[in-house]
Amino acid sequence: MINIKENIKNVEEFNLLYDAVGWGAYDEKITQKALDNTFYSVSIYDDEKIMGYGRIIGDAICFLYIQDVMVKPEYQGKKIGTLVMNKLLEKVNEVKKENPDVRVYLGASKNREKFYEKFGFIKRIDANLGYGMILDNKKM
Ligand SMILES: CC(C)(COP(=O)(O)OP(=O)(O)OC[C@H]1O[C@@H](n2cnc3c(N)ncnc32)[C@H](O)[C@@H]1OP(=O)(O)O)[C@@H](O)C(=O)NCCC(=O)NCCS
Repeated sequence: MINIKENIKNVEEFNLLYDAVGWGAYDEKITQKALDNTFYSVSIYDDEKIMGYGRIIGDAICFLYIQDVMVKPEYQGKKIGTLVMNKLLEKVNEVKKENPDVRVYLGASKNREKFYEKFGFIKRIDANLGYGMILDNKKM
């Protein structure tokens, strides 16, 4: 049975998924702090087993950022990612009632753009914006 839970801050589950999708594993203390500072998250379970996860970070009213959308490889292609995104966008819609101009960003991994386009995301360049930039930690 599919179980959907909101705002679960389970470091072990997060790191398990993070590792399973090939992003390595974070230090537990770092993950804990990241989860503690998360605005909203959704965890999807196959009974009690974690299958998928996604979270929103940001200032809760002007800028939201979708992050860490992950589905365990054996559950991929079964619309679990869609379920995660739909829950995250439900939360976005709640914020939109307070601020219709809320800006929602995400940084899609390479070749994941098509997945996010299904939910209404467009490339910044197509919105007449710049590419978006990221700090090169080596240059600091
Ligand atoms: C990307 C990811 C979250 C998608 O989750 P999923 O449960 O496999 O996706 P769904 O089954 O809900 O697929 C929904 C739609 O997106 C498409 N899709 C899924 N993954 C895709 C990908 N990598 N590239 C292009 N399209 C993709 C599916 O074909 C499906 O299309 P359809 O509606 O026309 O049938 C999942 O594959 C994953 O966790 N990947 C590794 C981590 C990752 O890259 N996360 C995204 C970070 S930016």
